[in-house]
Amino acid sequence: EEKNYKFPDGFLWGGATAANQIEGAWKEDGKGITVEDCLPYREVGIADFTKQFHFTTKDMEEALAAGADSNYPKRRGIQHYHYYKEDIRLFAEMGFKVYRMSIAWSRIFTDPRDEKPNEAGIAFYKDLLKECRKYNIEPLVTLSHYDPPLVLITDYRGWYSREVIDLFIKYAKVCFEQFGEYVNYWITFNEVDAMLRHPVTSGALVEDRFQDMNFEQAIYQAMHHQMLASALAVKLCHSIYPKAQIGCMMTKLCFYPFTCKPEDNLATQQRMRGIYRYVDIQVFGEYSLHLLKEIENKGCELVMLPEDNSILKEGRVDFVSFSYYMTSCMAAETEGLDMAPGNTVNGVKNPYLESSEWGWQTDPIGLRISLVDLYDRYRVPLFIVENGLGAKDVISEDGKIHDPYRIEYLREHVKNMSLAINEDGVELIGYTWWGCIDLVSESTRQMSKRYGFIYVDVDDYGKGTYKRMPKDSFYYYKKLIAANGDVS
Ligand code: BG6
Repeated sequence: EEKNYKFPDGFLWGGATAANQIEGAWKEDGKGITVEDCLPYREVGIADFTKQFHFTTKDMEEALAAGADSNYPKRRGIQHYHYYKEDIRLFAEMGFKVYRMSIAWSRIFTDPRDEKPNEAGIAFYKDLLKECRKYNIEPLVTLSHYDPPLVLITDYRGWYSREVIDLFIKYAKVCFEQFGEYVNYWITFNEVDAMLRHPVTSGALVEDRFQDMNFEQAIYQAMHHQMLASALAVKLCHSIYPKAQIGCMMTKLCFYPFTCKPEDNLATQQRMRGIYRYVDIQVFGEYSLHLLKEIENKGCELVMLPEDNSILKEGRVDFVSFSYYMTSCMAAETEGLDMAPGNTVNGVKNPYLESSEWGWQTDPIGLRISLVDLYDRYRVPLFIVENGLGAKDVISEDGKIHDPYRIEYLREHVKNMSLAINEDGVELIGYTWWGCIDLVSESTRQMSKRYGFIYVDVDDYGKGTYKRMPKDSFYYYKKLIAANGDVS
């Protein structure tokens, strides 16, 4: 049967990055220190990702005292701060229509309490955005992608402190006012559901600083504050630039029942509700009873002010964006079953799927399933803002990087997107491949876990020339974009 692999005109093809994973220049031109700057490189097994996010006050002190021989990969990134013109030119060569990037709060305010923003930081992003516009690339800008200022740990209790909302809104206002004329698409918080999975990078929450209370209670409260900050940012953006669209962003995990046993189906349903309930707040403007029940059943309490409900109601998002990499299974009883790591989660291994070198189970059909589920639930336009394959690349004897594995991953996911649009009636605005240029991994801080269509010559220890080089996938994506996604 002939399939229709067409995409709508104006479909936004492109790539995605985050400031803390590419910029480097961690102390240049008035940038303040962030939590990410203090996360060390640690050699841990692929299934042990939780150890990567283990972070104590002692780790922070060590980081601040660390000498030049220490390894904090986010401090160097891929030196995009100095290479951005070349990088954007390469994105334009692939034909990008959109580029998802994030702004580092710590560049706009050296200290989030400062009254005046840092002019050098504003100038950097203005120039970067103008560079995108020069090539007709539509910027898609995330206000917060896992890089809270370190001051939120040292002088506050992270997002648990309600004052942080005001600090964030002051920052968001500067962004809308200074960059709004170049930006039509905004995202508030990257993977807003991640607070429970890695509280330090999402919420600047360090467990040993909450000895006077249940840490989970602090996490839920911090999450509530971030929800309010997101809603207030949405409202502010609409009032300053009514034409702009501003969305939320979720980790679109997907679990299948391991067997058809009712117990496994129930476990799966419970897990999936747990995945949607944060974005539910941002789309529907109110908490799901499910989340409130969980908080109550855990003996935690959410402190809400009288105005909070109307803030959430008035700050509903225009679109839902999400990351999608892999799927896994759920079983009521996991003893004796093989487990598989995924994007900051573990699940039961699916015998029908292949895995990446990091154990993430590749599942293009799961993307179609996810698109349908999200659209049926929310009825707002969707935007895939992260999808990609982390792999070890080798330079061949001919001096090139042949990455058929990445090309295949891309092709199969794009096919399933077109089926979701053309057969399932899903409204999808665009697609940005994660790590369109090699960058420092979030969960492992490795450089060797490469996602890019563009190779960057630097290793896990910062050795290399930082030279950029297109891989085979670069030329494939260029063709795919030119054909508006028709991969038939
Ligand atoms: C997403 C994050 O969850 O996954 C990115 O938003 C991250 O920041 C990406 O890089 C891939 O994960 P990792 O751990 O391979 O870098």
